[in-house]
Amino acid sequence: MEKSRVLVVGGTGYLGRRIVKASLAQGHETCVLMRPEIGLDIDKLQMLLSFKAQGARLLEASLDDHRGLVAAVKQVDVVVSAMSGVHFRSHNLLLQLKLVEAIKEAGNVKRFLPSEFGMNPARMGHALEPGRVSFDEKMEIRKAIEEANIPHTYISANCFAAYFVPNLCQMRTLLPPKEEVHVYGDGNVKAIFMDEDDVAAYTIRCIDDPRALNKTIYLRPEENILSQNELIAKWEKLSGKVLEKIPIPSEEFLASIKGTDLANQVGIGHYYHLFYEGCLTNFDIRDNWEEEASLLYPEIQYIRMDEYMKRYL
Ligand SMILES: NC(=O)c1ccc[n+]([C@@H]2O[C@H](COP(=O)([O-])OP(=O)(O)OC[C@H]3O[C@@H](n4cnc5c(N)ncnc54)[C@H](OP(=O)(O)O)[C@@H]3O)[C@@H](O)[C@H]2O)c1
Repeated sequence: MEKSRVLVVGGTGYLGRRIVKASLAQGHETCVLMRPEIGLDIDKLQMLLSFKAQGARLLEASLDDHRGLVAAVKQVDVVVSAMSGVHFRSHNLLLQLKLVEAIKEAGNVKRFLPSEFGMNPARMGHALEPGRVSFDEKMEIRKAIEEANIPHTYISANCFAAYFVPNLCQMRTLLPPKEEVHVYGDGNVKAIFMDEDDVAAYTIRCIDDPRALNKTIYLRPEENILSQNELIAKWEKLSGKVLEKIPIPSEEFLASIKGTDLANQVGIGHYYHLFYEGCLTNFDIRDNWEEEASLLYPEIQYIRMDEYMKRYL
């Protein structure tokens, strides 16, 4: 089967650069949107040039330039957006809606993957304020995609490892704790952790797969379904050091939302859903519109979390 031509939007981002790499590695003709707004951001430009050196094509267009965007989209079969999800009530929602408009007008796109890559927003209708805005925005984008009848795949990537694993799920740090670790509730609620390069590899495997058409694909490889206690035990084994465990009851955790800044309030809400409620694992994947990636693509050798943690020793 001929491999689709791919356009990555948000290609210099944390996930986007990995999607570009995976697309090239899996043999797709790969284009990356180069936005004139990058201005004097020399690091972004260097990264774009390095993609070009690896065989990607840079397509120049602003997300605010409808015609330019339509012309870029017309050159490919598949569009993957990895645009930022961190700007609330945002500009970014509007920009992604503009991308949907361009895809609709171009009319040639066989698959669009919007920037999701987290919890499935369709399962987060009950999410706490103010963090729920990120799910609500992703649902708004889904609505626009579906109303325009754009063929799509939604990727539910669960927890990116670098944000949750070395820090043993502690907030406000990315580094391993040295003496003590806060444990959410009894620490036994299961979450799912993914190496970010694996997120990108599974994402690209989906784009030409009819089994992923108009579906939500969960990245839920069995050995990466772990509780916080299991992560802590893995780190203690690797580091040879036992940490003091400080349990945080759910009421105390939720009460800490008061008096903090917006970013922290959002974080507390997300952590509550992840580590007290178990929102990543408290349902089975059996709906007709959902599939699990490691079952679809057993040939991908995903990174286990003890392996991932070794780089932090
Ligand atoms: N599951 C998890 O644990 C987890 C963790 C982090 C992120 N995510 C999700 O992964 C996706 C990508 O996130 P990320 O952290 O990789 O994003 P990021 O690095 O913050 O940004 C990605 C790209 O978004 C574009 N962008 C940002 N601000 C923009 C603006 N004002 N105007 C136009 N473009 C803008 C840029 O594209 P250019 O390359 O064109 O400059 C940027 O490189 C999001 O949907 C996010 O929710 C999930």
